[in-house]
This record gives sequence, C-alpha cells and structure tokens, in this order.
Amino acid sequence: MCGIVGYVGNKSVVDILLDGLEQLEYRGYDSSGIAVMCEEDIKVYKAVGKLQNLRDKLKGHETEFNNSTMGIGHIRWATHGAPTLLNAHPHTCNCGNLVVVHNGIIENYKELRKSLEDAGCIFRSQTDTETIAHLVARKYAQCKDLTEAVRLASEEIEGAYALCVMHNDCKNKLVITKRNAPLLIGIGDSEYFAASDVPAIIKHTNKAVYLEDNQIATLTPDSMEIIDIDKNNITPKVEVLPWEPVALSKMGYKHFMLKEIHEQPDVIRNILVGRLHAPDEEIILNEVNLNKERLRHLNRIQIIACGTSLHAAMVGKYLIESFCGIAVDVEASSEYIYRKTVTDEHTLVIGVSQSGETADTLTAIRQAKAKGSHILIITNRPDSAMAREADSLIPVNAGIEVSVAATKSYIAQLMAFYLLSLYMAEIKDSIASSTLTSLKTELMILPQKIEQILAHKENIQTVARAYANTKDFIYIARGINYPTALEGALKLKEISYINATGYPAGELKHGPIAMLDETMPVLSILMNGSVYDKLLSNSEEAKARNARMIALTNSKDEKLNELFEHIIRVPDVQELFSPIIAVIPLQLIAYYIAEFLGKDVDQPRNLAKSVTVE
Ligand code: AGP
Repeated sequence: MCGIVGYVGNKSVVDILLDGLEQLEYRGYDSSGIAVMCEEDIKVYKAVGKLQNLRDKLKGHETEFNNSTMGIGHIRWATHGAPTLLNAHPHTCNCGNLVVVHNGIIENYKELRKSLEDAGCIFRSQTDTETIAHLVARKYAQCKDLTEAVRLASEEIEGAYALCVMHNDCKNKLVITKRNAPLLIGIGDSEYFAASDVPAIIKHTNKAVYLEDNQIATLTPDSMEIIDIDKNNITPKVEVLPWEPVALSKMGYKHFMLKEIHEQPDVIRNILVGRLHAPDEEIILNEVNLNKERLRHLNRIQIIACGTSLHAAMVGKYLIESFCGIAVDVEASSEYIYRKTVTDEHTLVIGVSQSGETADTLTAIRQAKAKGSHILIITNRPDSAMAREADSLIPVNAGIEVSVAATKSYIAQLMAFYLLSLYMAEIKDSIASSTLTSLKTELMILPQKIEQILAHKENIQTVARAYANTKDFIYIARGINYPTALEGALKLKEISYINATGYPAGELKHGPIAMLDETMPVLSILMNGSVYDKLLSNSEEAKARNARMIALTNSKDEKLNELFEHIIRVPDVQELFSPIIAVIPLQLIAYYIAEFLGKDVDQPRNLAKSVTVE
C-alpha cells in the first residue's frame, strides 16, 4: 500500500512526480503529496483525497517550482492515522530541512517516537513515517552525510519500508532504501527515477534496477551508487523492463475494470502459448522445477493466498484433487502465518498472488520456505518479491491489472491451475489419455465461449440494473463453483459496497435461510454437472422463502423460467471448466451495479491494489 516516486535529473520535476503518482494510484488514494527541491529550499505540497485534489492545489504555484529538477512524491493508503493533511506525506523534520516519503509500516515506531520526543522532537502527525524524518535528521546532524544518515537510521528501524529522502543541504542528491517493500530505480539519460512500481517510470525508461532489502542508493543526475547496510559497494544489476506504456490506457472503455474483463479471452490464449499446442500433445510446464519422480510421489500440497487469489486457490484445490488425487489444503495467508503449520520438505507450497507483493502471502511463503518446502509461485508479476522467493515460478502474463477489483488476473490464475493440475496428472498418469485429450480440447476453446458471453452482455446489464438498489445479495453454488460464488460476492462488495455473501448452497438451511424474504436476491450458479440437481433443490428452498431468484446457468431447461425471476444463460461447458465461464457474468453484474450507482469502480473506497501490510 502507498506508492512513492522520486526523481533527480534535468527535467522539470513536478509533472514527472504527478504522472508517476497517477500510475501508482492503485496502491492507495486517500491523500497525496510532493516535496520539490526549489532554489532556496524544499517546498512541500499536500492534499487530502484523490490525486486530482493535489493537482488543483498546485495550480498557480508553478513559478515556485518551474526550474526544479529533483523531488519526491507519495500517494497514501492510511495505516497509522486518518487520511488528513497532517498525516499525508511527505513528512519533514522539525526544521523542515529533511523530507521523506515512505511505503510500509514501521513496527517499532512507538518506541522510536518516545525516544525522539524525549530528545526534543515535536511530532505533528499520527503516522509511523514521521519518526523516520526526525530520526534521519538527527543522524544527519551528527554525520553530515545523507547516505550515512539513512543507513544509520535503517539500523534502528524495524518493519517494512521503502523510503525516498531529500535534504536541503544536498541540492541534487536523492537517497533511497528499502526492506520488505518494493522499490526500483529507473535509469534515464542523466536522470534517475525511484518508484514503488514499474507503471510510474515506464513512460520514461525501461532500464531499471530492483533495489534489494537493506540496500541504500544515492542518486544524482549523473550517478547511482548503491551500498548495503554494512557499507559494502553493490554492483547494480540493470534489467530491461518488459512492459509497454500502452498497457496503461483504458483503450476507449469507461473503466479499467471493464477493459480488463474484455481482455480475458486473450489472457487465456496468452497463458496457453508455448504450454499447450494441441489437445493430443503433452502440456509443457518447464517452470515447475520439481523432477518428475518427486511430482509422481507428492502427497501433500498447501496453497496460500488472499482475496481473489484465495478463490483461485480454492478452485485449484478442486482441480488438483480431481485430476491428480493429491490432498490439497488451502488457507488464507493471514491465518497461515499465525499458527503452527505442519509443513516440511515433502510438501509443495503454492503461493498465489496477482501482485506478488501481498505482505501476508509473502510472509507465509517465507515461513514455509524456512521449513524446507518447495515454493511454487503463481503470479502476474514475475518481477515481484514473491517471484524472487520462488523455487518454481508460473507467470500468468495477464498484463498490468489497473482496476483494484481483480478480474483478468483471476482468470489467469485459474488457467495456471488447469495447466498445473493437468500437467501433474500426465506425469502421475492419473487420468485416461482420452479424458485428457477432451479436457485439453475444451481448455483451448474457452476464449471463444467467453467472447460469446461478452458479445451478449446487455442481458447481464439489465439484470444488474434490476438489483442495483438492493442492500444485500446472496450467491449460492456447490462443488467447484462455491469459490465462484465467493468471488462474485467479493466483486460486488468491493466496488458497489452492497453486503454480498457467497454460500455453499447446502449450508443455506443451516442458518442463512433465516435471512430470506422478498427483499433478498439469491443468485444460483447452476452449472450442468454433478451438483446440478442438488443446487436446484436448494434454489427451490430459497424460492419457498420468497427470495428473489436469479439463475446463472448453462442449462437449456425451460422449466427454470418458473423458478427464477431472471436467468443469465452462458455457453455450455464441462463442469470442471465452469468456474471460468461462470465468473464472467458475475464480474459484469458487479461492474454494472457499481457503475449504475455511480461508484468509483476502479478505485473503490478504503481499498488498494497491493496490500503490502500484514
Ligand atoms: C481482488 O479484487 C481484491 N482487490 C483483493 O482481494 C486481492 O485479490 C487480494 O488483496 C490479494 O492480492 P494479490 O493477488 O495481489 O496477492
């Protein structure tokens, strides 16, 4: 959470900072601020709310910073202290000579604050970050070297942080450092950028260095020097970033979420490229660095993830158990890390994460790694912290996902699980080859089926509008689509703020049925297969309590018209692939309701795309 940018070079800095922050708005957007090195001294500008408020505030101040070529910026997702002007970054020391922006959480900030207050520092905000400003300023007063001051301060700081620091005495020097939070350096022509993520710099350069934990970089227009916490010089590893700036455009869609929903057929095609050539050929998954013998004898898998990625993991469990007969446990990372987990070198641990940065999942996989488990990461960000921890890495190649509500990354994660489970089934010889061929045939035509749904989305829009004013929403399903119900409900909650819940339909009668009456919409994910009849009975039970019934189905049964007030029909598909088909209308329902209600679809309140705090 939170995004930081920094620039030192030869261009006017303010636009670079604001554009960079705009690209990082997915990391938080409850306040923002910049600090600019001006001729006389550093000037700080902050605003509460969206970045546009900061842009508005800067209007008329242009003459103050027109010639400035160095500065730092921040976009905030509040952790310590409400989103107010005082809590917004950048934070300064008491004399105002030193400014800092920070992403992360300083765990020992209370102790640090106490000792800094005892030493005479006056705190103005409730943030953990302000301690860093005072701490580095005090170190600087002793050593008169900004890099050394940051290094000394980082020896005392506990927790996660990415920092950019400027001091009035150093007119063209930016010092940055990180621990357990992302930070990269973009390399331009006599200029350097610092940013939490690629989108902030990709417009300017595709040459970058990923700073590693406890490294400190000193950037001037003409130099980049990196040391570690023990003052050893580090030779930077320069990488070429893979992304094109065009990926960040809405391409004519009203919202990124809608664009990303429409990208899903191509996301499936992309992930299959090079991995599945034809139904009668073997799946190629060179990314799995476990030899076939070990895979054949694997008898336990744990999958850890959060949010939407957790729902993909739940589908993954179903697939691996069905295709390979291996026992799989799925757990929310935030739970996994605070109990005694039974894992060892014989367990395959799979971490699933769009961002590859989610703090809970990162901690969980590090714990499992320390116990000797093989770590397989499924992520959309092969350049992320999680990817760097991986023993095996399956990049899902969905392209940058800008909307906070995950859509295309979910489909890509599901595809990774289809490929992985079928790949393991081939090695274990656990499915008849004719079945495998038919499964792979179906896998390859999923994009066309999604395209059919997208081509007829008006009906989904009509249904969505019919329920836009509901206060609550229930999604029911069974078997492999129970996670689909959870995901549909999560999408609706996230972007429309309607209280939506997903239930395994058989559980309805054990409590939730008490809530049903004529005001409650119940959407039944009624896909052909082993649980169709059971789910139909559960839908009847809900109807008998006067609930407003909606079916999402691939059944052609005309009798459904009697039971359901609205029916969303989708192309037929084998049951095991139905999560891919069923989730698309649910994403669209959430989208159309939120859009109809005038909500901020791409940046819903209180959320951030990458949750980098535990
Ligand atoms: C999805 O719509 C959410 N924004 C959220 O639940 C997300 O899936 C979760 O925070 C996990 O993120 P990750 O996949 O980047 O680890």
